[in-house]
Amino acid sequence: MTFRGRRGGEWWRRAVLYEVYLRSFADGDGDGVGDLAGLRARLPYLRELGVDAVWITPWYPSPFADGGYDVADYRDIDPVFGTLAAADALVAEAHALGIRVLADIVPNHTSAAHPWFVEALAAGPGSPARGRYLFRDGRGNGSLPPNDWRSAFGGPAWTRATEADGSPGQWYLHLFAPEQPDLDWANREVREEFASILGFWFDRGIDGFRIDVAHALAKARGLPDLGYPADGRSAWGAMIQPWEVESHPHWDVDDVHEIFQGWRAVADAHGDRLLLAEAIVGVPERIARYVGPGRLQAAFGFPFMHSRWDARELRSVIDETLAAFGAAGAPPVWLLSSHDETRHVTRFGRSETAVLGLFGETGEPTDLALGTRRARAAALLVLALPGIACLYQGEELGLGEVEDLPPEARRDPAWRRSGGTVRGRDGCRVPLPWSGAEPPFGFGPPGSTPWLPQPAAWRGLTVEAQDGDPGSLLALYRRALRLRRSHEGFAGESFRWLDAPAGVLHFERGRGLRCAVNLGGRPFELRQGDVLLASAELGPGGLPPDAAAYSTVPS
Ligand code: GLC
Repeated sequence: MTFRGRRGGEWWRRAVLYEVYLRSFADGDGDGVGDLAGLRARLPYLRELGVDAVWITPWYPSPFADGGYDVADYRDIDPVFGTLAAADALVAEAHALGIRVLADIVPNHTSAAHPWFVEALAAGPGSPARGRYLFRDGRGNGSLPPNDWRSAFGGPAWTRATEADGSPGQWYLHLFAPEQPDLDWANREVREEFASILGFWFDRGIDGFRIDVAHALAKARGLPDLGYPADGRSAWGAMIQPWEVESHPHWDVDDVHEIFQGWRAVADAHGDRLLLAEAIVGVPERIARYVGPGRLQAAFGFPFMHSRWDARELRSVIDETLAAFGAAGAPPVWLLSSHDETRHVTRFGRSETAVLGLFGETGEPTDLALGTRRARAAALLVLALPGIACLYQGEELGLGEVEDLPPEARRDPAWRRSGGTVRGRDGCRVPLPWSGAEPPFGFGPPGSTPWLPQPAAWRGLTVEAQDGDPGSLLALYRRALRLRRSHEGFAGESFRWLDAPAGVLHFERGRGLRCAVNLGGRPFELRQGDVLLASAELGPGGLPPDAAAYSTVPS
């Protein structure tokens, strides 16, 4: 194996991860859905891009009520993606190219089609099979949900089961779709089963896991009401978040950490494996509680991702993140986009540049040229910060959110559950454009139809179109990643801010690498001779607005 990242232990500390949204990466068999064959064929692309590891979204057998985040069997591969043998081959081929592989584990809920849930429905109230989930009697005469919790996809977080004799029965909890029943992590069997699942994949050579909704696993004893006001906050997706209340009964409950201490022990027993939490819990200090010795090794930096394109806001979130993760002894994970959020080219091209929650929309027109300039600059920022960087497939091509998908094409459960009033996340999941002048743009074989339609305008953004163009975003990512690997300025984890006018982020890290990001309205003076890489051409006044540059320390 020829891994390019850090040698020896803790390979992830400065790694560049790449999120493969499997259904939309590359379609090897022409059924319109991305798969393992497609990904295997494109591994050389990822090698050339220069990433250290891929995180592959769930590949397990699933009814796809939530894009595969509803798992029916944790030890197999869905036929739409391939086979277990194809997964093994993928891992071996990736390793041979120096790329590590992270799978996505979904421990908060199973699919309703999982044998455990099928068994639980059949077994009836009080049975051990129901004890693996959160079944409760309804309130009143049993016809009201056990508490006031809401589902992230809208509506109540409870669905009433029908008992074996056909009568209306107990209710079960689902913080997401009704097809995603929550497991009860106070149950020993649940814990043992997941320890065994981790081991199953570690033994097959997986280098780690991204942990889906890690902050959801523990629930407050007695499942108390959250206290939604009877009138307000009835909008779809408007869940009360952990940072809004003193103690939240189902997000970020303290008992969650003990669960992950157990996971860490399993990972450590298998060598140098990474456990990376998706913990959407507010401030960096709260997120950092998931990481450190004996805890998980890393957790996504959502506060950074949720920031506006604003120097002051970014600077304070960077400071808070570095302080919290530094204290915990774990690397921060910087990211700009994911399969759950509006793509940042689009976000940065609006006047409101913040991420607006899972399904936030402004209805505002987007200035894509502005968004792209900022995305170029943001790429250099993300890749210069000390720690882990995580890229979302297609950001290296400058893809924007697809905002005009036809209603009948939409698949996000939020769309269905809101009766079409919440658009959901399909717009950031449109299959990648690889080559050619028309759909499927090389995503699948000619004549195949991608599961979500690709915009004709992506013709100019294909990998093929950008490949030989030194001014393309793809070229910028490749060069930045090469510098990050090879330039000694990126070594080490030291970081300090340099003096700069308002609106400019200017810092020095490692051994003499400087990064300037101009979010202000005026050019920022930089000496041409010192510049290693810039996201835009330097003008007479220096670095133009909405641009970034790496430079060496002036001599
Ligand atoms: C995570 C996933 C998201 C999924 C949800 C429920 O937030 O990233 O795509 O819908 O968990 O599993």
